[in-house]
This record gives sequence, C-alpha cells and structure tokens, in this order.
Amino acid sequence: MKTEQFGQTADGQKVTKYILSNKNSLKVSVIDLGATIVSIEVPGKDGRLRDVVLGYDDAADYLANDCYFGTIVGRNANRIAGGKVTLDGRTYQLEQNDNENNLHSGKNGFSSALWQLEEYDEHKIKLSYLSEDGVQDFPGNMKAYVTYTLTDQNELIIEYDAETDKTTVANFTNHSYFNLDGHDSGYVGKQELKIFTSLYTPVVDSKSIPTGSIASVSGTPLDFTKMKKIGKEIESDFDQIRFVNGYDHNYSLENDSRKLKQAARAKAAESGIGMDVYTDCPGIQLYTGNYISEHAGKNGATYGQRHGFCLETQYFPNSVNEENFLAPILKPEEKYHSQTRYCFYLN
Ligand code: BGC
Repeated sequence: MKTEQFGQTADGQKVTKYILSNKNSLKVSVIDLGATIVSIEVPGKDGRLRDVVLGYDDAADYLANDCYFGTIVGRNANRIAGGKVTLDGRTYQLEQNDNENNLHSGKNGFSSALWQLEEYDEHKIKLSYLSEDGVQDFPGNMKAYVTYTLTDQNELIIEYDAETDKTTVANFTNHSYFNLDGHDSGYVGKQELKIFTSLYTPVVDSKSIPTGSIASVSGTPLDFTKMKKIGKEIESDFDQIRFVNGYDHNYSLENDSRKLKQAARAKAAESGIGMDVYTDCPGIQLYTGNYISEHAGKNGATYGQRHGFCLETQYFPNSVNEENFLAPILKPEEKYHSQTRYCFYLN
C-alpha cells in the first residue's frame, strides 16, 4: 500500500494520493479530492508503462481547471435543461453554469469535495462523501460511495453506491480523459473506437440539450458500430458534429434493465494498448475533448484540444426532465448501485 501527499485544498486541507497496483505492473492512482483518478499506468507492447489518462501533479491544478480530468461527477453528470428539476411536485432551480443550463451539477459538487477514506488496500479503495440537503440546490442528504478495484485481470472496476433521505437525483460518472498512447501523446484522432450500439440522442443545438428523440447513427459520422479512427469524421459537415465541435454525444445502450454489458472498445496502434468498457448504465457520452484549451498537465505535458477522449457512463443528458428517457431518481427507500469497468489489454 502506498500513499503520498498531493497538495491541499483552498482552505488548507491535505489531499492524499492512494496507489493501487496488480501483479501485471498496472498502477492506478486516486486522490481523495473529487475521488479523482489521477493516473492509470499500463504496460504497452514495448513493455514501457504508459499513463493513459490526462491529469495534473497537484490538487491546486484540479481546483483551478474545469475539464473534470478523472473526477467523479455528481449528483448529476451532464446537462439539465434550464437547470430545473421537479421532484415530488416541487421544482428546484440549480445553478445555470452552461448557458441557461446546468452542467455537471455546478460548483461545490462531488468533483471538488474532499472525500473520506472508508477502505484501502493494494487492490481497492473506497471513498465516501456526504452531500448535504440543499448543497447545489438538490434536496436530501445524500451519502455517496465510490469504490475503485484494480483486479489481476487488468480491470479497473468503479462502483457507485448512494442513499438519500429525500427524493433526489442520482446520476454519477467518472470523467477520465483517455489517451491510449499516453497522456502526453497529443491528438487522439488516430486511435480507434467502437461503441456497441447504433442509437444516440441528438441534441437541439450547440447548447447540447437532447431533442428527446433516439436516432440511428447509420449513415452519419456518429456511427462507431465498427472500429473506426476517432478522427476519421470528426470534422464532418454534419449538424450534430458542428454544434459541439466534434463528438460530445450520448449513445443509448438500450439498457433500461441495468445489466452489465459491453459499451465500448478503444485501441491505440502505437502503444498496442486496448481498452474495453462495460457498464450497467443506460447511456455513454463520447466526448473528444473539444474544449480542452492549451494548458500544462502532469509531468511537463502540454494538453490541447482533442488530446483525450471520455467515455462517460451515465443516465441520458436531461433525463430528469425528459419523459422518453429513464429518469435518474433516487428515493429514500431505495439504494443506488451502479458499476462501470475499464479493462486494459495488449492488441
Ligand atoms: C460534456 C462537455 C463538457 C465537458 C467538460 C463533458 O461531459 O459533455 O460538453 O465540455 O464535460 O465539462
């Protein structure tokens, strides 16, 4: 077991980094600030360890930037139209931090909280966070847990658990940006991706609120039903691509029954590193880092637009308001549980 200090929060609380490892030399580092994954080191085909997620060297950089590198997002990942949520007949106005909409729940959310350590050993870390009644304008005291497990089969399993004392929203994701050639390798356009569905939720315009329909990707640049280079059609003159400057779309996994199933596969030719994604969530957001501005990352790296891609497992964007979509509502008599697995291998 290994821990290191990782800087501090704005009010001077110590941030700690916890390292997980397995028998195949994989290493995953997690900090208690935002229950954030700060690195995932995987051996490439040349035997060299590559860190395949974007991140920073210090807590202060996580607090100063708004990319959500590796953080847990809650209580609600993605967008809510107008920042309005109606629960048990009462409407709550959330922060309007993305045009008139709410994105990733606004400030003071899961991603900037200092989580409590519940359990830690070489393969596993469990963290908890109490999001109090009224924080971010959500009702109910919500106790949330995130558990990361690194297995000897090279799977990183993320489990989410939560309970609440009032009906509220529960839609968590991990916001890691992957670059399977290494976090400092630049544009991810040559890396290949497959998404295991032909359905997605089109957005109305550049503000990225879904229309409410579920459409086929067939014949569009959003089609990743077969392995395809991420960059192949990223500049297409197709309205859904133009709206968001690349990919920033939710795919429907047709998973209302919440069974663990494969959602995506990605691979990089140069490192030989492949990754399979499994989840029990109804949706997965492909975001190609379209809005990463040029700035300094960990170990002297410079990051920029499209230097990483996210595969954010989630309920659909604005599902809290959209009748056609499964709603991410948690009631006091229920317990939330969800899991996503990122599995690494050599091609
Ligand atoms: C959203 C993007 C946003 C990014 C960083 C992603 O989940 O879909 O639109 O720019 O997070 O906040």
